[in-house]
Amino acid sequence: MRLKTEKEKIALLKKFNQEAEQGGGERRIASQHDKGKLTARERVELLLDEGTFQEIGKLVVHRATNFGLDKQQFLGDGVVTGYGNVNGRLVYVYSQDFTVFGGSLSETHAEKIVKIMDLALQNGAPIIGLNDSGGARIQEGVVSLGGYADIFYRNTLASGVIPQISAIMGPCAGGAVYSPAITDFVFMVENTSYMFVTGPNVVKTVTQEQVTAEELGGASAHSVKSGVTHFASRNEVECIRDIKKILSYMPQNCEDAPAEVNYTPSNELRPKLDEIIPENPNHPYDIKEVIREVVDQNDFFEVHENYADNIVVGFARVAGRSIGIVANQPQSMAGVLDIDASKKAARFVRFCDCFNIPLVVFEDVPGFLPGTDQEWNGIISNGAKLLFAFCEATVPRITVITRKAYGGAYDVMNSKHIGADLNFAWPTAEIAVMGAKGAAEIIFKAEIQAADDPEAKLAEKVDEYTEMFAHPYAAANRGFIDEVILPRNTRLKLIAGLRMLENKVANLPKKKHGNIPL
Ligand code: HXC
Repeated sequence: MRLKTEKEKIALLKKFNQEAEQGGGERRIASQHDKGKLTARERVELLLDEGTFQEIGKLVVHRATNFGLDKQQFLGDGVVTGYGNVNGRLVYVYSQDFTVFGGSLSETHAEKIVKIMDLALQNGAPIIGLNDSGGARIQEGVVSLGGYADIFYRNTLASGVIPQISAIMGPCAGGAVYSPAITDFVFMVENTSYMFVTGPNVVKTVTQEQVTAEELGGASAHSVKSGVTHFASRNEVECIRDIKKILSYMPQNCEDAPAEVNYTPSNELRPKLDEIIPENPNHPYDIKEVIREVVDQNDFFEVHENYADNIVVGFARVAGRSIGIVANQPQSMAGVLDIDASKKAARFVRFCDCFNIPLVVFEDVPGFLPGTDQEWNGIISNGAKLLFAFCEATVPRITVITRKAYGGAYDVMNSKHIGADLNFAWPTAEIAVMGAKGAAEIIFKAEIQAADDPEAKLAEKVDEYTEMFAHPYAAANRGFIDEVILPRNTRLKLIAGLRMLENKVANLPKKKHGNIPL
């Protein structure tokens, strides 16, 4: 390459840049669009504030020579990497380009991602990975596997230091799934993305099951059945919009505070909440109605909406400040805690605690789900995850008991005893070892059996127990509840409480790390 003039040199750079921007070429770009998918660069453009993207490694090419690869070079090697802003805040991004070797991960492709991850970690800003890849670059063999491991290692080092978000916008198979799995939030796009450790062909060979890629590992499988993805977006535009939204609740890193939005105080009373609890304590209501009333207008962003819906988790703001919400949902399985709900909430609590986001808990829980399925699949160790997560959380923590707080679930759901800072109860709260009927049947068994009319006796004893325990006052007398509040005042109390706890400092005993029951 012998260039004489400056003009020629500039022209060459322009040519290289254009070539890199073409990825795998027009035909493959058209094929990508035909599948309803955007290209790697279009996704980055959509994600970042206009004109802020700074690319790194645009002219990188692979070093492989096997299988004729030396004659197939694409500038950028199948991944677009760099940094830019989302709503004015710095983020790092990598976006795999399916038009180049199917977005497969070569040694150099991995090096580009690793470079971005190191920058993100050292400079304390979120990293977003847009995945669309056929997996390890088959022609490269072990160096590709090494590249994946380099990424997994950094995902782990970055965990709890900077927010990490993965979007799956095409294939993500084999060991490649473990990078998104380690990151904090996973997004998938319906019908155009899938994730699995082994695909339909292997499944058929090994287990004789006939299943399509979409059924096995599509967005709905992972948002409803496995919980691997937190979000199933209808299309890529919606997916990227939601990534921007979730970032708005987070700080840049674990030493930063979440961004605040402007807030103008107004009437904070919510009288509608005084009428939300049904007369019959066994009737359901929608806890999301409570959440929406209490948080800033239109500011509840639910996470894991379609998975374990007996518990609700998500981000919101109260008076402009980010909070993480964990709430039992009486409308689904009476709000009972089971394995999936415990895992879902535990991971969310830990995310909030990593990133200085205060926790607000709405509690209406009749206990843990009974049954052989739950016991044999480990409700003991899985329920313990949620308990452990709350116990070690040092962010400001507030609980509002709206109705039931029974048994072990009372302790687990951010009780005073495990470190909550403020515990409120509505006058409708029932804080007891178990429901009145179950309790009466046990402690008055002999009396009920001996009665002329056992049913009437049981009803009498249920009333007696209800009067004694189905209220918040025994707990308030002990100080386990700091204040019994009118439902309409809940928002006011949260605003004041969160402000009071703003400078909370709480340290765990010195240790390498805890040993959460996994
Ligand atoms: C190299 C690959 C590739 C790969 C796809 N391509 N996957 N090149 N390594 N892993 C290339 C194809 O040759 C083709 O090149 C282009 O990408 C598009 O692929 P198509 O097959 O035409 O596309 P499509 O029909 O949409 O199918 C996509 C696909 C399929 C389902 C991803 O390509 C596929 O099954 N690929 C192999 C997947 C795989 O087994 N990967 C290894 C998994 S194990 P041209 O030149 O025609 O455009 C693994 C281990 C990771 O990843 C371990 C980490 C610990």
